[in-house]
Amino acid sequence: MSVFRVCHLAGKLTRTLQKRQPGLDITNKDILCVEIAGLCHDLGHGPFSHLFDSKFIPTAKPGREWKHEDGSVMMFNFLRSDNDLEQEFQKYGLDDNDIAFIVEQIAGPKKRNNGEWPYKGREKAKEYLYEVVANKRNGIDVDKWDYFARDCHGLGIQNTFDHNRFMKFARVIMVDDNLQICSREKEAETLYSMFQIRATLHRRAYQHRVSNAVQAMIVDALIIADKTKLIPKNDRSLISISDCIDYPEAYTRLSDSIFHVILMSIDKQLAEARAILQRVLRRKLYRCVGETNPKQTTSKDQIKELRTKIMTYIIGKSGGKLTKTDLYVDTVCLDYGSDTENPINNVCFYSKNNVDKAIYINQEKVSVMLPNVFAEHIIRLFYKNTDSEGSRNASSYFHQWCEEHGYQQQSKIPDDVTAI
Ligand SMILES: *[C@@H]1O[C@H](CO)[C@@H](O)[C@H](O)[C@H]1NC(C)=O
Repeated sequence: MSVFRVCHLAGKLTRTLQKRQPGLDITNKDILCVEIAGLCHDLGHGPFSHLFDSKFIPTAKPGREWKHEDGSVMMFNFLRSDNDLEQEFQKYGLDDNDIAFIVEQIAGPKKRNNGEWPYKGREKAKEYLYEVVANKRNGIDVDKWDYFARDCHGLGIQNTFDHNRFMKFARVIMVDDNLQICSREKEAETLYSMFQIRATLHRRAYQHRVSNAVQAMIVDALIIADKTKLIPKNDRSLISISDCIDYPEAYTRLSDSIFHVILMSIDKQLAEARAILQRVLRRKLYRCVGETNPKQTTSKDQIKELRTKIMTYIIGKSGGKLTKTDLYVDTVCLDYGSDTENPINNVCFYSKNNVDKAIYINQEKVSVMLPNVFAEHIIRLFYKNTDSEGSRNASSYFHQWCEEHGYQQQSKIPDDVTAI
């Protein structure tokens, strides 16, 4: 399981810094806390991981800002008390501050009011420890190193990023009043390649159109199933799937197995959800009938607006023959993890001559052949039914929309995208 590797890598990076820079005063307890955060930071993932927090919950509970990190904190607190781990933590000398530190690492970054230090677990002198497991400032963190290794291996893609080498050159340096983990200047190119690999994994696997078709179907099935109370709480009462995010003991019962729970159910209310899941198994998938890559740099929010516009346009063109329930417009964002920004602009480096002076490295200094654009979007139209007439119509209206609005149509969508 990959959480063990995240735990291992988190410990390894922190231990490396402890040895290399004794002046930082990193204690063994600090290391243990970072390791536990690495181990527990994904406890809150729901069924089918990101499908749950980024697609299912926003539809099931509109307006509720809930991320798996919130689930992780909930589960970390619940599991500690449910398993009587208080004494176990004490045995290792971990007190309330340490637990607060672990929780803060799992929960993700806090806003700083007037530059005020927002955390309780550790003082500002150790702020770089907050960026080991999940680094929201520049995206270089041990969590990525883990899934790169796992998914490149699984997909047969060469993983050219060597995290052991990164650790060899990692140094904590003061950058404008903040202590940050920095790298040696000659490693800048390697870091560009790290983000390149991330983009490749998204393009070839996580955001592949067939994968996204299956995801859309599972979301549709879960949304239908959400009307039924399916998941038991400890008092034997049942609650809906989406309500589990507020009931940790019920949340422990929620895993990918929900797919088969729905599939095997005999409840009439679930018939439509079952039918969709059966289609998944028989590869009668939603069909991608159009795809475009907007050329202009667009932010994530602007791209989302296009979804509604395209939907309305196509329904209008069809004169009402096609409806909202026949179509699904998906927007995919392939970026370097920092929206349209160059993530390396938030990485500091040092040179051999002065290892304690942080410097930014201009992109052109690394190589003139590096990308200028750090985000790419894909808009896809899926047709949910299986008839070819509706699918042809949807495809041609989408084509018209692209032409009228200056979007380049992807030249060839394979006719039968179900053949993965
Ligand atoms: C497809 O378009 C044709 C021509 O406009 C129309 O006659 C037909 O009813 C449409 N079918 C569907 C399912 O939208």
